[in-house]
Amino acid sequence: MCDDVASRSDAAAAAGTASRERRDAAGGRAPVLDPRTDARPSGPVRVEPVDLGPVHVSTPVMLSPMAGVTNWPFRVLCEEYGPDGLYVAEMVTARALVARNPKAFRLCRFAPSERVRSLQLYGVDPAIVEQAARIVVDGGMADHIDLNFGCPVPKVTRRGGGSALPWKLDLFREIIARVVRVCRTADIPVTAKIRVGIDHEHETFHEAGRIAQEEGCKAVTLHARTTAEYYGGHSDWSRIGELASELDIPVFGNGDIWGADDALAMIERTGCAGVAIGRGCQGRPWLFADIKHAFAGSDERTNPTLGEVGRIIARHARLLTEFYDGDERMAVHDLRKHVAWYLKGFPVGGQTRRAFMACESLEDVDREVAALDQDAPYPERVADKPRGRVRFQKKVHLPYGWLDSRRTTHEEREALFGDDPMDAGY
Ligand SMILES: Cc1cc2nc3c(=O)[nH]c(=O)nc-3n(C[C@H](O)[C@H](O)[C@H](O)COP(=O)(O)O)c2cc1C
Repeated sequence: MCDDVASRSDAAAAAGTASRERRDAAGGRAPVLDPRTDARPSGPVRVEPVDLGPVHVSTPVMLSPMAGVTNWPFRVLCEEYGPDGLYVAEMVTARALVARNPKAFRLCRFAPSERVRSLQLYGVDPAIVEQAARIVVDGGMADHIDLNFGCPVPKVTRRGGGSALPWKLDLFREIIARVVRVCRTADIPVTAKIRVGIDHEHETFHEAGRIAQEEGCKAVTLHARTTAEYYGGHSDWSRIGELASELDIPVFGNGDIWGADDALAMIERTGCAGVAIGRGCQGRPWLFADIKHAFAGSDERTNPTLGEVGRIIARHARLLTEFYDGDERMAVHDLRKHVAWYLKGFPVGGQTRRAFMACESLEDVDREVAALDQDAPYPERVADKPRGRVRFQKKVHLPYGWLDSRRTTHEEREALFGDDPMDAGY
C-alpha cells in the first residue's frame, strides 16, 4: 500500500488534536462527526495487522458480538468471506457459566473451522467473572476473551452491568485485573468493549480505556455512543480518535460501519487500529470480504444476486440445525430474523416473506429459496446503508444512587452481587 499515507499513530494523534480543537470551538462538546453522510476515505489508507498477544489479526476487523446473532453458524459464514478477522461470540453471562447452565455452554461452542475462538463474558461481580474466566481457561474453551462493558439494555444497567459499570472505577478495574490474571496463565488475550459513557454528563471512556490498558487488556473496542443514545443518532467517531490518540494498545472503532468505505474512513479519520462491525453485517456476511479487499487497497465488492443470497440462506439454515443439535424447527425459527435481513431491499413480496416466517423445516426453507427470483440483482439502495435497530433510549436505568460516586460502597456491592443475573441479554 502507499508509503505516503500517515501512520496509524500520526492519524490518531491528529484525530485527537482535531477533535480537541473542535471540542474547544464548540464550547466543550465536539460536534458529532456524522459517518452516514461523510464517511468516504479521501485517499489510500494504510491498514496494518493487529496483534492481541498471541492472536494475530491480519485484517483488523472484528465481528462485534451480538446476542442472538453471532453464534457459530453466523460467525462461520462471516469468516468464510473474511478469513483473517476476529469473530466474537455473543455475550455469555458469567454467572450462567459458573452455574453450568447448558444454554450458556451452547453459546460457547465453536465450529472446527474457526481460526480464533473468541468469547465475550458479561458480569458485575468480579469474583464470579473471574470464576467464569477460570472455567474458560481450564476448559481450553477459547483463544480470546472480550469483556462486555457496553450493553445499554435497562435490565443490565439497572444492575450496574454493561455500560453502567465503568462509572465505578474500582469495580471496572477489579474485573479486568482478575480476568487478565487468570487468562495470563494460558496466554489468552483479554480485551474490553466500552461505550462513551452513560450520557455526555457522565462520560467514562477516557478512564475506562486507560484502566483497561493499565490492567493488561490487549485492545479496547469503543462503541462511540452513550448508554442514553442506545442505538439512536450517530456513533461519534471523533471520540474514537480521542481514545486512539490516548492509548498505546490498539483501539477498535465501532458504530455505524455499513460498508467497506465506512471502515476505511473510520480508520483514516480516527487513527484507530481496526474496526468492529455489528448491524452492518446483519444479512450481509460478505461485508467481511469487502472490508478485506478495501483494507488491501482493492475496489472489489460483493453484490450477490438474490439466487446467491438464497444459497447463503439455505446454508445458514443447515449450520443452525447443527447448532441446535439437529432440531430443524429451532433452527428455522432462529433463521427468521436473518431472512428478514437477507431479503432487505430485494423485490420480494409480502407473501414470500410470510412464507419464510412460516417455515418449520429445512425442506420448507429450500422450497422458498428455490422460488426466489434467482437473477434479481443486489438492491443498490440498501447496500452499505444503515440497518438493524436504531432506537434512542428514553431513560437510563441505573442502581439507586449509582452516579453519586465513582467508587462502590460495601452496601452497593452486596446489593449488586446478589442480583447479578444469569439471563442478561440485549
Ligand atoms: C441485536 C444486537 C445484539 C447485541 N449484542 C451485543 C453483545 O452481546 N455484546 C456486546 O458487546 N455488544 C452487543 N451489541 C452491540 C454491538 O456489538 C455493537 O457495539 C453495536 O451494534 C454498534 O455497532 P454497529 O453500529 O456496527 O451495529 C449488540 C447489538 C445488537 C444490534
